[in-house]
Amino acid sequence: MSVTRSVCLGCGSYLPDRVLTNLELSSMVETSDEWIVERTGIRERRIAAEGETTSDLATRAAERALAHAGVGAEEVDLIILATATPDYTFPASATKVQANLGAHQAVAFDQHAVCAGFVFALATADTFLRGGNARTALVIGAETFSRILDWEDRGTCVLFGDGAGAVVLRAEQGEGTAQDRGILATDLNTDGRLIDLLYVDGGPSSTQTTGYLRMRGQEVFKKAVTSLAETARTSMKKAGVSSDDIAWIVPHQANIRIIEGTARKLGVAPERVVTTVARHGNTSAASVPLALSEAVAAGSIKRGDLLLMEAIGGGMSWGSALLRW
Ligand code: ACO
Repeated sequence: MSVTRSVCLGCGSYLPDRVLTNLELSSMVETSDEWIVERTGIRERRIAAEGETTSDLATRAAERALAHAGVGAEEVDLIILATATPDYTFPASATKVQANLGAHQAVAFDQHAVCAGFVFALATADTFLRGGNARTALVIGAETFSRILDWEDRGTCVLFGDGAGAVVLRAEQGEGTAQDRGILATDLNTDGRLIDLLYVDGGPSSTQTTGYLRMRGQEVFKKAVTSLAETARTSMKKAGVSSDDIAWIVPHQANIRIIEGTARKLGVAPERVVTTVARHGNTSAASVPLALSEAVAAGSIKRGDLLLMEAIGGGMSWGSALLRW
């Protein structure tokens, strides 16, 4: 049976130039390279330059994704930017990206599910494409978390970094089997009772300030491993595949122990997991498309490979997507 699939035509990413190492951080707060590496796997992260905004990062990643896909900006009719760190309270940063790219015919909006944002945006774009409401979509994850960190809180400021990643999706016809290229299944979840585990203590409607990120790390950790394995299993069931079919897990890059713990629960060998957390830290909504782009550029991910993307973040919100490259 012929069905519409959202096929990924290309991807791209962008990282700011400035590298912030663990050693440098240890001169800012009471921490050490050893502690950060042992607990998180992070060695360094990138920090956006003064005046460099989320939409700037997103635009660079989107331009690279379009070039990789061989698609012109004028062909794009949908832009979804997943971010929790927009340039302004309004309008959506996606509108700036649209203007920067010259994709004037595209509808453009932001989607906010924090670290799970890219997976949520991917699922949203898939719904647009399969429903015939768009043909070519740019899905971007971009963040400048350095701007919402309390640089005196060693429990959080060592974890995050800035960056952007993007993919180009196009509606194409598939056979309706698990062998089709494109998005085979998605699964999204939210539990708003867990807001206190991870949130920003400011906003336009509450404090009229931007606020800083606050987190109960151990509780987030436990919730993450269980929920990520669950959502992955749900997506696999929907698509009719098993963990043996997965060529690569492309996970949210929060912490190497969460990444490895989830893969272990799913019975996927560590060699089949894309990990960039050591060099990027946690870039929130940007982490999955950043990791994807690096693995594609390195030649690790090949056409026909089945990819499992999974992510969790504030809300708490979490989800997964199965995509055949
Ligand atoms: N350097 C040195 N010591 C530190 C640091 C630091 N940067 N941060 C905390 N500590 C101390 C604590 O103060 C505590 O000291 P105490 O025992 O004297 O009180 C000790 O280290 C242990 O603290 P814990 O919070 O118990 O450390 P834990 O092993 O849980 O590691 C961490 C903390 C890394 C935050 C971990 O809980 C974690 O990774 N959680 C997941 C959070 C996450 O990934 N969030 C990202 C957003 S959500 C997402 O993307 C999934």
